[in-house]
Amino acid sequence: MLRYTVISLVAAAILPIAVSNAVLQTRASSDGVYLTYCWEETNNTWTSQFPYYANALTGSQNGELPDDNTFAADSIAIWEGNRICATYADTGVQFCSSIVADANSYAVGQFAGAGANEYAGFNCFKDNGRQLFQKKDPATSLTTQCFSRYYCFQEDQS
Ligand SMILES: *[C@@H]1O[C@H](CO)[C@@H](O)[C@H](O)[C@H]1NC(C)=O
Repeated sequence: MLRYTVISLVAAAILPIAVSNAVLQTRASSDGVYLTYCWEETNNTWTSQFPYYANALTGSQNGELPDDNTFAADSIAIWEGNRICATYADTGVQFCSSIVADANSYAVGQFAGAGANEYAGFNCFKDNGRQLFQKKDPATSLTTQCFSRYYCFQEDQS
């Protein structure tokens, strides 16, 4: 899926300018939202968060901090079989995930359900539990470590 997009972008780059602009325009936004469990060192508990990356395709694979984030739950959310929504405080944009009930048994990379905000639909896929990012509180040096269970990308990218 991601590979297909990258190849498309490369192909678009060698097409005439008018065409490549159009293609790149529709793909310019590579919004991605991750469904994560985060270990909070400050109180040794788990939270569930929706880290958002404006450039998820190339900007969320190497521990980059998200562009925005919001809490989906103050505990371990059961993503599977539930519709879970949260609103980003600074923009007021709400994101909802709807992961299918049996996605726990899915293979990494398998399509696992849908997401949506006010502007677009998202396709969600099983992730491998990798650490997406770690954030350190400068005052206390305590960290939040977020691990990815699912990743959701805007529909026009898949
Ligand atoms: C633990 O800390 C996180 C991050 O500050 C907070 O969101 C969460 O509500 C806290 N959990 C409890 C059980 O206090």
